[in-house]
Parts: sequence; C-alpha cells; structure tokens
Amino acid sequence: MRDQAERLRELVNSQNQKGNPHKARIIAVTSGKGGVGKTNLSVNLSICLSKMGQNVTLIDTDLGLANIDLMLGIIPQYHLGHVFSGEQELADVIMDGPAGVKIIAGGSGLQVLADLSSWQLDSCINRLITLEENNDFIIFDTGAGISNKVVRFLLAAEEIIVVTIPEPTSIADAYGVIKIISKDNPNAKIYVAVNMVRNDEEGEQVVERLQMVAEKFLHFPLEPLGYIQYDSNVPKAVKQQQPFSLTHPNSKASQSIKQMAQYLLALPQHPSRGLTSFFHKLFSW
Ligand SMILES: Nc1ncnc2c1ncn2[C@@H]1O[C@H](COP(=O)(O)OP(=O)(O)OP(=O)(O)O)[C@@H](O)[C@H]1O
Ligand SMILES: [Mg+2]
Repeated sequence: MRDQAERLRELVNSQNQKGNPHKARIIAVTSGKGGVGKTNLSVNLSICLSKMGQNVTLIDTDLGLANIDLMLGIIPQYHLGHVFSGEQELADVIMDGPAGVKIIAGGSGLQVLADLSSWQLDSCINRLITLEENNDFIIFDTGAGISNKVVRFLLAAEEIIVVTIPEPTSIADAYGVIKIISKDNPNAKIYVAVNMVRNDEEGEQVVERLQMVAEKFLHFPLEPLGYIQYDSNVPKAVKQQQPFSLTHPNSKASQSIKQMAQYLLALPQHPSRGLTSFFHKLFSW
C-alpha cells in the first residue's frame, strides 16, 4: 500500500500538470511569545487586504483560545474537521467576517488530517481546492511558540509574518522561531512585524537587531513588514469584539496595518505553490 506522502506527491504533480490558473498566497502569522498581537494583526490585515479588492480567507488554527472567534464575536458552528469527516461541505464552514473577509475555524479540525487514511486525505484536499481558486490570500493565524503543531505550519508556509513586541524575551523567542524556519523551510519569505512600539524608531531597532543576528548566524534575510504603535484603541476594540481597523480607521494602529497590506500587495509576485503543496508539506513533515 502506498504511503500518504507518495499519494500527496501525485496529487501535487497532477495539479501542476493541469496548470492551475490561480493560486492564493498562503501566509502564516506567528510569534515566539504569546499575546503579542498575532490575532489582531491577522484579522485587521485581512480586512485591509479585502478593502483593497483582494479575496481573503482567514483560518484560525487555534480555535477557542482567545482568538478570531472571540475577537469578532463569532460563534463557529463547524470547523474544517467537519469537512474532512464528510459531515459538512466546505461552504458550510466558511463564515462571513467583517469587510468581506471569509473566516474558517481550523482548530482541532486540522489536527485530524494527520490521522486520515490516504483516500480520505485525497478527498479532503480536493475539497479545499476551491479555496485556492476563490482567494488571493489565505491567512493562517497560528498559535505562539515552537510546539509541533505550530512548527508544522511554519514549515509548510511560503510566506510567514513573525510578530514580536519590543521586549527582549519576545525578540529572543521570535529569533528562535526564525531559526527553525531558516533551517527547515529555507525558501520561505519571513517578514517581521513589531507591535506595541512607542515610535517607529523603536520598531526599526528591533528589526535591525533581528536582521543582524539572522544574517550573521543563520545567513537568512528578513523582510521588515512594519511597526504598529501601542494604541489604546486596540484593547477597546477587542473588548467590543470589533476589529480596530473598522472601529478606529484613522488610529495609528489602523494606518500601520494599512501600510503593511499595501506593502504585501506591492511586492513582486511571489509564485505561490498553492494549497495542495501546502497541505502536502503540512502532513509530510
Ligand atoms: N498595538 C496594540 N496596542 C495596544 N494593545 C494591543 C496592540 N496589539 C495587541 N494588543 C493587545 O494585546 C492583547 C493580545 O493581542 P492578540 O490576542 O492579538 O495576541 P496574540 O498574539 O494573538 O495572542 P495569543 O498568543 O494568545 O494567540 C490583546 O488584548 C490586545 O488588546
Ligand atoms: Mg491569537
């Protein structure tokens, strides 16, 4: 009997031969330390990209832990696991979020993929292909740290936003994550976003430090994505279960996120290998 990895390789090849015309960019948002603003960044960046005319699906990989569902006051009825088990169609797990962003609760649903038989896995991945065709961006809000569960995503993604705050422990933990990615996913593009800064200079210093050590010890380039100031509108919006880019569109935090979205859009087209390849890597790791 052929193993899962072999079957997935065949799927990737057949997908490539079909010349899939549209592949969404897949971005994982992560951090070394928890509570640094990943979910706020994922949600508000998705909204900004959507407002700029992009089709965006945001996938919450950490269901229930103070994440997207709680932040937006959404109660997901189903998660990706229901699609994988055949109980629901993909359309049933996609929720309408703010400003046209589509939201999917991934959560434990993604973990069950690792245990599926090869025919179930093929059928699951085939069911997700429409996600890739219908989106310009698929953004995964991952958990913090270097647990097996998080690292899988970081090794599968082509573009990764590492979020840190300007505190030594957070910066050190961000470096730890970058180190793992540089070693086991060397073709990934890593962006650094510094959150809760006092001013841009503080953010610049953090990025320069990280760039310097990554260059020196890992020979790995880091791309600065931008800096978000500490902004009291953010916790206010979180309490109201609303995204700050909608409640306070002119706040400094909203302006920064908008610049990040513009930056990502302005980058030379990064040829995405697509979702099939992403899931292939996610479960062959
Ligand atoms: N720019 C900011 N200014 C002020 N407060 C902020 C800012 N960004 C995030 N916060 C606050 O920090 C807290 C954590 O944010 P968030 O939930 O986005 O972090 P996280 O990295 O996703 O956390 P976890 O690791 O638990 O998933 C929230 O209560 C939020 O209000
Ligand atoms: Mg979070």
